[in-house]
Amino acid sequence: MSPLAALAAIDAIRAHFAARHAANRETPAIAAELRNILALLETVDFSRADEEYLRPSGHPVVRQLQQTPPQNVDAATGAIFRAFLPQLDALPWRYSYAPRPDAPDIGERMAWAELVGPIAPFRSDKVCLGLTAIGPRLLYPRHYHPAVETYLVVSGAAAWTAAGITRIHPPGALILHPANIVHAMETGDEPLLAAYAWTGDVETLSAYEDDAGAAASHAPGKPNRTEPPPMNRT
Ligand SMILES: [Fe+2]
Repeated sequence: MSPLAALAAIDAIRAHFAARHAANRETPAIAAELRNILALLETVDFSRADEEYLRPSGHPVVRQLQQTPPQNVDAATGAIFRAFLPQLDALPWRYSYAPRPDAPDIGERMAWAELVGPIAPFRSDKVCLGLTAIGPRLLYPRHYHPAVETYLVVSGAAAWTAAGITRIHPPGALILHPANIVHAMETGDEPLLAAYAWTGDVETLSAYEDDAGAAASHAPGKPNRTEPPPMNRT
């Protein structure tokens, strides 16, 4: 993925967040977090990209997305969808939770691609920005992280659960996950594409609620650049 394509994709999300904030129709909590994300993105140096993180990943979630093209992309998120669609193969997709016996193929069916963050092409230790993809008919099990998380549904209507409440969120929905809230997503026949932002503690990785090894396998820390970096997000 070229740095220019990555910047175009980031700008599409950023412009959407700015427009949603300017429209003044979000809840006070979401409006405040959009303001926070936009301010933190101002601190990121977009003049240079670490191209180590712009290499195509070859992740099979891309084939799943292409086999079941997302539908019902609304006008509001269309610019983001169009910015990412030609880049799906080129995005740095990752899945790096420890294996789950109850979902042995989950790492082949969902992933996230981070463009801004501690270990991303555009470096920040204050804010993350990326895209999450979940293939059809898949549960992303209950998980949590100390970062405050904002999702924007780009395409696909999935069931989103947070604090025990489940809702179907359509494209265009903004979803705010406060720090350490336990949340999960489950797709139907359509895959889910969603942009995400993290603020606050963006260094501590996400952990499955039922992952007994979470403390060891998802411990915060700087990645060893000779090893594939751990990147459990979203
Ligand atoms: Fe999350």
